[in-house]
Amino acid sequence: MSDPLGVEPRPAAPGDAIPDWLPSFRAEFPLLRRLTYLQTGSLSPLAASVRAATIDMLDDAGSVRLAGQQDFAACHQRAEAARAHLAAFLNVRPEQIGWTSNTSLALRHALDQVDWQSGNVLISSDTEHVGTRAARDGLAARSGVRHAIVPACDGDDAFLSAFAATLAREPDARMALLSHVSCQDGRRLPVKEAVCLAHRAGVPVLVDAAQSIGQFPVDVTDIGCDWCVGSGHKWLLSPPGLAYLIAKDVRAFRSRFLLPASIDGTSEEPMGRRLEVGIEGWATRAGLDAGLTLLASIGLDEIERHVAILSDRLRDGLAALPGYEVVTPRGRGASSGITSFTVAGGDPGATRAVVDTLWDRERIFVKYQPERPVVRVSVAAFNTAEEIDHLLVALESLSA
Ligand SMILES: Cc1ncc(COP(=O)(O)O)c(C=O)c1O
Repeated sequence: MSDPLGVEPRPAAPGDAIPDWLPSFRAEFPLLRRLTYLQTGSLSPLAASVRAATIDMLDDAGSVRLAGQQDFAACHQRAEAARAHLAAFLNVRPEQIGWTSNTSLALRHALDQVDWQSGNVLISSDTEHVGTRAARDGLAARSGVRHAIVPACDGDDAFLSAFAATLAREPDARMALLSHVSCQDGRRLPVKEAVCLAHRAGVPVLVDAAQSIGQFPVDVTDIGCDWCVGSGHKWLLSPPGLAYLIAKDVRAFRSRFLLPASIDGTSEEPMGRRLEVGIEGWATRAGLDAGLTLLASIGLDEIERHVAILSDRLRDGLAALPGYEVVTPRGRGASSGITSFTVAGGDPGATRAVVDTLWDRERIFVKYQPERPVVRVSVAAFNTAEEIDHLLVALESLSA
């Protein structure tokens, strides 16, 4: 990549070799020719194979009325392949997965599992997504639910002991809701350990895995949570508008829309029947299926390794620049592809100005994250060392 600001890119470090798979993987994403995309934490760019599968399904499903019942069933079956594919990816059964259009909505369905009464407590952390905070505030206003918020930014041990203390202090806790990876600063929370603590106290746990699933291998059964929600359209590469809710106990999952159990004689009503009514987004599911195939062609372990090398490069580079401070914890296992940093000691105006200038001058797309406030950089499998250097060079010029 040419250096628009006239600053030398960093020399390659040992271990920085370009993986064999990267050029062809990257070529799947036409958008990357036009900009430096570091925003997968919000939305994946569209891969050619994902687009093709999505459009194929739209074409086929769109011609159903002409072609008849068999094709209709075939389209439905093709869409169902995504459920089985995602189930295998996360080590759950397909029947445990229900689709929604985004994580925020999936989260509300999961929160609906409790008959919230005034005085009940919802435990969560101080690093949750705005959708969670909105749902939390809604429950407080509508049902008088209190929330107990556990600080999550002082490391795993501090978090787990504060979480345990909260469980002990709040006998009216009815649910705990925790992000697996923080959308604010990319830290990983020890959700498996938190689930053990909560279950010992009789409190079920909802894990928001929107920022973890697709970044590194996640075994939802092993985490042991009661519900898990996540998005297709971030790290799993689906087109926008697809997310999922996974229930550990499908029979216990209450739905306002449950279709009659006798409808096809099945003894267990899968999550699909509990969340999905009428014609649904077959095309986005076909896209997700293609996205999962694309990720599997590289493997999540390899993706995690590549992203960790790039993230180290970014964090080392930021540490050497004046005016920026990385707030994301370092070390494999402590975070993943998200790196957040403050600008000018956390000044909101200066932080937003950096995000806007990176876009206006350099076509570098990162996110302004208002809660801290920080600049959030999402490094994904398709990103390169040159793109990281492009960002560092631009930031260096802005801090000069
Ligand atoms: C942790 C977390 N939860 C939930 C969401 C909401 O996801 P969606 O846009 O699919 O509703 C996000 C989106 O950034 C997120 O980072």
